[in-house]
Amino acid sequence: MIEAAFHYPKGFLWGTATSSHQVEGGNRLNDWWAWEQQPGRILQGARSGLACDWWGGRWKEDLDRAAAGGQNAHRLSVEWSRIEPEPGRWDPHALDFYRELLAGMRERGIEPMVTLHHFTNPLWLAEAGGWEDEGIAARFEAFTRKTVAALKDLTAFWCTINEPNVYAYCAFANGVFPPGRKDIRAALRVMRNQILAHARAYHAIHEIQPQARVGIALQYRGMTPHTANPLDALAARTQARLFNDLIPLALTDGRLRFPVGRGRVAQAARTQDYLGVNYYSYDHVSFDFGRPGELFARRFYPKGADLSDIGWNANMPEGMARAIRWANAFGLPIYITENGIEDEADRIRPRYLAQHLHQVWKAANTGVPVKGYFHWSLLDNFEWERGWTQRYGLWALDPETQRRTERPSARLYAEICKENGITSGMVRRYAPEIYPVLFPG
Ligand code: FCB
Repeated sequence: MIEAAFHYPKGFLWGTATSSHQVEGGNRLNDWWAWEQQPGRILQGARSGLACDWWGGRWKEDLDRAAAGGQNAHRLSVEWSRIEPEPGRWDPHALDFYRELLAGMRERGIEPMVTLHHFTNPLWLAEAGGWEDEGIAARFEAFTRKTVAALKDLTAFWCTINEPNVYAYCAFANGVFPPGRKDIRAALRVMRNQILAHARAYHAIHEIQPQARVGIALQYRGMTPHTANPLDALAARTQARLFNDLIPLALTDGRLRFPVGRGRVAQAARTQDYLGVNYYSYDHVSFDFGRPGELFARRFYPKGADLSDIGWNANMPEGMARAIRWANAFGLPIYITENGIEDEADRIRPRYLAQHLHQVWKAANTGVPVKGYFHWSLLDNFEWERGWTQRYGLWALDPETQRRTERPSARLYAEICKENGITSGMVRRYAPEIYPVLFPG
């Protein structure tokens, strides 16, 4: 058997990603808390409850685990509803909590990447029209200024909005996130407001912290026409333009390319210092007359795909290569800001991890500026409308007892982070089934 290794560039960031609402627990101030109280909104009627109890201080033990596992970075988010519980009232305790958290990361040798908006909104903001209202951009800027001023000595690495494309789609087009709207035009308005809000935040951060690195984390989904039928190609292209391209193109040249109509958002041009890519799986797309609300597209995984527990993700590592190729066209440094799979028994995750990281390695070693990788997630956490039915953690969590249990993938990832590479030995021990794929003899 051959012995070989894939090593990553020096200084590569190895981390995991989390978000405030999914790990902190005990917050009644945001729209997700209210949503969880409504019957039928969350699978099995679940609630975030204590989540991973980070607000209660358990972030310390979880970050100890991350540091012991060789991670040198972590992507987390701050909770707007805690920092600004009422319009214009800033809670110093919340800002102190995040100061302590970021300082705790630094003490552990973990570089923080801080996301300012990860799906949740203060209740007062949601009631005042949320992201449908143009006033959001000014409000987001005010929140950004306060937060960045308070945390600027602890980080200069910011992500303004997590997955603006997923948020606009889930909250305004298919209605599974609050406010539960199902109106594609509302989703497009929201995208425009997100672009304006991002642009204001970008300029504000650079004013406060000229050396800051600021970007977004976009979920990229490859869209593959299911058949050679030109209508499938059309449906796939429309989805890709709207879901993948619209936002980062607007942040590049200040132009809005809506399916119908165009527009200018000049202040958004050149407002990314890096591009954050969240990649999970890609879709096959076929044209479907019965789905005008989805722009006549049906998205699904191909037959025989290597599927996760509830079929939410498929292990399609070649999509990671596509995602990075796509991202590279923007000419910016690239971070993989999320990547992972729901897999309670850790049946697929070891091979998913090794195969996706192999694609990242290929790109990095052919000169593509991929600078870091954040696995979703450090430990199981509250998965939005899917509640606790999905387990994305390297560590398993029992939300009742708050007990953490290490999955084999946590050990594999620790070996990778410490080696700054993947070796044939690791693959043989953790995912022997893909050994011939990664190390063909
Ligand atoms: C992404 C979200 C993240 C998590 C993962 C599984 O879309 O950004 O919060 O829910 O999916």
